[in-house]
Amino acid sequence: MSIIKTEKLSKTYGSGQTLVEALKNIDLQIDEGDFVAVMGPSGSGKSTLLHLLGALENPSSGSIELQGKRFSNLSDRQLTGLRRFNIGFVFQFFNMLPILTVEENILMPIIIANKNQKHYRKKLDELLKMVGLEARRNHFIDQVSGGEQQRAAIARALITEPTVILADEPTGNLDSANSLQVLNLLKQSAQNFKQTVVMVTHDAKAAAFAERLILLKDGKFVLKEDLKHVPDKAKRIMNILSKLHM
Ligand SMILES: Nc1ncnc2c1ncn2[C@@H]1O[C@H](COP(=O)(O)OP(=O)(O)OP(=O)(O)O)[C@@H](O)[C@H]1O
Ligand SMILES: [Mg+2]
Repeated sequence: MSIIKTEKLSKTYGSGQTLVEALKNIDLQIDEGDFVAVMGPSGSGKSTLLHLLGALENPSSGSIELQGKRFSNLSDRQLTGLRRFNIGFVFQFFNMLPILTVEENILMPIIIANKNQKHYRKKLDELLKMVGLEARRNHFIDQVSGGEQQRAAIARALITEPTVILADEPTGNLDSANSLQVLNLLKQSAQNFKQTVVMVTHDAKAAAFAERLILLKDGKFVLKEDLKHVPDKAKRIMNILSKLHM
């Protein structure tokens, strides 16, 4: 069964002269444990797609299902629960709270939901180790580097062990060492924990960590490509992009 399924998903912003069709009739099926890269020119609808999949915005038409649950059939309360526990967000403006430490920021989803923190302590320790922030756990978040904040944001997205991880240019402002770490983390989440990852990126090398590639242009799919058995994925992706003049 698909974890994520969309049918004729469309999103329009504004009206009249300022009307923008950000997404047009997107049919998408993503299986459990898939790692999908979404690429396309600026303004092609990549972030819009992630916002819709994360129930952060409502579609103008069409439907979205997550684990067989259709968003339009869920109450606001159920959608909030879904966003908090079934979906991990790694967005670029990561909404960290400067008055909290690295560790407290990572635990934020647990604190907000009033869950038993004890239960998540072990997971927290594992994650801090995985993202290399053990030595920074008690630092205030605004006293660590941008890369460290980004890695904390990833740990925060993973603390609830979400079914789906939505990442919008997660390596956008990281150096190559930190990028590699983040991409490996996402790949491991998919491989080892069967989490489904949808990652927007402009970088062919980053997209090469994924097993499927989706290309958007003007709000429409222009290509879906299985990368699983492609030996040199980055090269293949760059070829595709140049053929499509992207
Ligand atoms: N809140 C909004 N109100 C009006 N128009 C919007 C809004 N959000 C996005 N758009 C428009 O929808 C289109 C798709 O935007 P989107 O942010 O999804 O692009 P993107 O592919 O993520 O681009 P980028 O690579 O630059 O991040 C763009 O033309 C954008 O201007
Ligand atoms: Mg975007």
